[in-house]
Amino acid sequence: MAILNIVTKSSNEEFLRKKSREVTEITPRILTLLDDMVETMRYANGCGLAAVQVGVLRRVVVIETEEGLFEFINPKIIAKSGLQKSEEGCLSVPGEWGMTKRPEHVTVRALNRNGEVIEVTGHGLLAKAMCHELDHLDGILYTDKVIKDEEN
Ligand code: CO
Repeated sequence: MAILNIVTKSSNEEFLRKKSREVTEITPRILTLLDDMVETMRYANGCGLAAVQVGVLRRVVVIETEEGLFEFINPKIIAKSGLQKSEEGCLSVPGEWGMTKRPEHVTVRALNRNGEVIEVTGHGLLAKAMCHELDHLDGILYTDKVIKDEEN
């Protein structure tokens, strides 16, 4: 396993704005990418990481919360409901936080590392992390969604 360099908004926003491509085959390279992303996320004390953030334009995401470790390949949000307003940050935007509005409940359908279709429903932080990381796959950063405190 390896700790990968994290692309930051200040160093290469143009890259972070690119759209990631679907994974068509789960190769050993994708499995190594997942392993390295988990190690990098933990090393950086983050709760989520998308492949684009380590320089790979593939639809691959890892998230770790109290609920456990989640590895998503080609994830899609298939249901969302409720609303949460909370502080959000990003390993690609170090040292900054902002208030965002996200759904409180989110269900993601994805492939796991064995190529099996999985569905995960998250609430609160996990729901927020799923939205945040999936946004990265389409070149969207949380900073695009920051609201002012007085907004409801
Ligand atoms: Co992020």
